[in-house]
Amino acid sequence: MEISGAAALVTGGASGLGEATVRRLAAAGVDVTIVDRNADLGEALAKELGGSAKFVSADVTKPEEVAEAVALAGESSPLRIAVNCAGVGIAMRSIAKDGTPHDPGAFRFVLDVNLIGTFNVLTHAASAISKTDPLEDNERGVIVNTASIAAFDGQIGQLAYSASKGGVVGMTLPAARDLSAVGVRVVTIAPGTFDTPMLALLPQEARDALGAGIPFPKRLGKPVEFGELVHSIATISALNGEVIRLDGALRMPPK
Ligand SMILES: NC(=O)c1ccc[n+]([C@@H]2O[C@H](COP(=O)([O-])OP(=O)(O)OC[C@H]3O[C@@H](n4cnc5c(N)ncnc54)[C@H](O)[C@@H]3O)[C@@H](O)[C@H]2O)c1
Repeated sequence: MEISGAAALVTGGASGLGEATVRRLAAAGVDVTIVDRNADLGEALAKELGGSAKFVSADVTKPEEVAEAVALAGESSPLRIAVNCAGVGIAMRSIAKDGTPHDPGAFRFVLDVNLIGTFNVLTHAASAISKTDPLEDNERGVIVNTASIAAFDGQIGQLAYSASKGGVVGMTLPAARDLSAVGVRVVTIAPGTFDTPMLALLPQEARDALGAGIPFPKRLGKPVEFGELVHSIATISALNGEVIRLDGALRMPPK
């Protein structure tokens, strides 16, 4: 798909994998809307990128805020790309050491942001993209979701996170099939361990150990590599209905 001159929306675009995606798409001549609940970081990034990016504050769990962000993203150029990077993680076991069951509120919170948030953006963005003029092969656009290898190799303490990311993996094929009628593709990336602010909370020793456990390359993933994959997904029209692991062949052990 020709993406130069099109508009894109990137949730979680103020930080980490989303920020790298914003930078890559802006460099490709895309008119990018950063959608995040962190206004300080989002506005600073938009300012740095100048005319090629703007910031819209929105919480992906709120459909009315997502609808507003989608409308603003497609204001001056046709919206063709929506990337779901907003996400949260918690560490909580099915039962605590004293046998207390997992807090259902914490479970719902993670599902709400990672799964319902992705659903909100996917459905609202697809609706907007479906109204744009078709390009070659009747293609109108693409939606890229972010799952995690925890959807497949969930570790101890990842009950909620893995459930939310498994849901994102599960939505990929039916969404691609639903949206084939309007020429919108759906592809999900399942990252391994990436060097983002999410992981920066860990001490350097723990981050080095995580990197050393990856078969090759023996380091944490670089956010620019994620941004590069999003760019490739957007431009390669044959990619659809697939979940792509981006993990250096990492298969997570139980803990
Ligand atoms: N970093 C990794 O190793 C890794 C691995 C696998 C999957 N992922 C996934 O990649 C995505 C991006 O992670 P990251 O490492 O860049 O994290 P990050 O914390 O750097 O960025 C996440 C961004 O999402 C935003 N956000 C959170 N909740 C939101 C909400 N309700 N509405 C709007 N914005 C919200 C945050 O403000 C933040 O800017 C997440 O879905 C995460 O689960 C990350």
